[in-house]
Amino acid sequence: MRTLWGIAAALAAAAVIGAAAQTPPAAATPPAATPPAAAPPAAQPPQRGPVSSALNYVPGVGDLMHLLVQPRHEKLGLAFEEKNWPLAAYAFKELQQALGTVGKVQPKWRNLTVPEMIESMTGEAMRDLDEAIQAKNAKQFAQAYEDLTGGCNSCHTALNHGFIVIKTPEASAFPNQEFKAP
Ligand code: HEC
Repeated sequence: MRTLWGIAAALAAAAVIGAAAQTPPAAATPPAATPPAAAPPAAQPPQRGPVSSALNYVPGVGDLMHLLVQPRHEKLGLAFEEKNWPLAAYAFKELQQALGTVGKVQPKWRNLTVPEMIESMTGEAMRDLDEAIQAKNAKQFAQAYEDLTGGCNSCHTALNHGFIVIKTPEASAFPNQEFKAP
C-alpha cells in the first residue's frame, strides 16, 4: 500500500509541476495591496438549501415543526384526553424542549428572532399548562391547551403561514402507543 500511495503522490506532484510548466508566465502585475485572503470563511448561520453531504443537514423551521413540535403537541393532547397526567407531564416537557430546539437550530426566520416569537405566542399558555398538569386541573388544562393551539396558529398567521391550522387531535397518529394511564 505504501508504495501505491508513494506512486500516487509522485504522480500528483508531477501533474502539479506539469501544470505549472504549461502556465504562461504571468504578465507583470503591480504588487498586491493586500495579502491574499487566507482566513477561513466566517461561520455561517444554519441555513436550508442544497447540502453536499447528509452530515451537513440542518432541519429548517418547517422540518422541526413537523418532526418535533407537531407530534409532541398531539401526544400532549392525547394524554390529556385520557387524563393520563404522568404522560401529559412528560409530553409537556418534550414539547417545551421541541419548541426550544426550533429556536436554537433556527434562531432567525427571515429577519425575525424565532425564540422571541415562540415565547410571545406560546409562553403564557405553556406556563398555564405546566401549572394545570401539576395541579391535575382538567378545566385549566383544557383552556391552556386551547390557548397554546391558538398561539401556534397566531404565529403561523403572523408569518404568512395561516393555512397551517393546528387543532386538538381527533384521533391518534400513533397506533403503537397507549395513551391511557396504565
Ligand atoms: C415562531 C412562530 C411559530 C410558532 C410559535 C409555531 N410555529 Fe409552526 N410553523 C412556523 C413557521 C414559520 C412554519 C413554516 C416554516 C417553513 O415551512 O419554512 C411552521 C410550520 C408548521 C407546520 C407545518 C410543517 C409541515 O411540514 O407540515 C406544523 C405542522 C406546525 N408548524 C405546527 C406547529 C405547532 C403544533 C405549534 C404549536 C405548539 C407551532 N407550529 C408553533 C412558525 C411557528
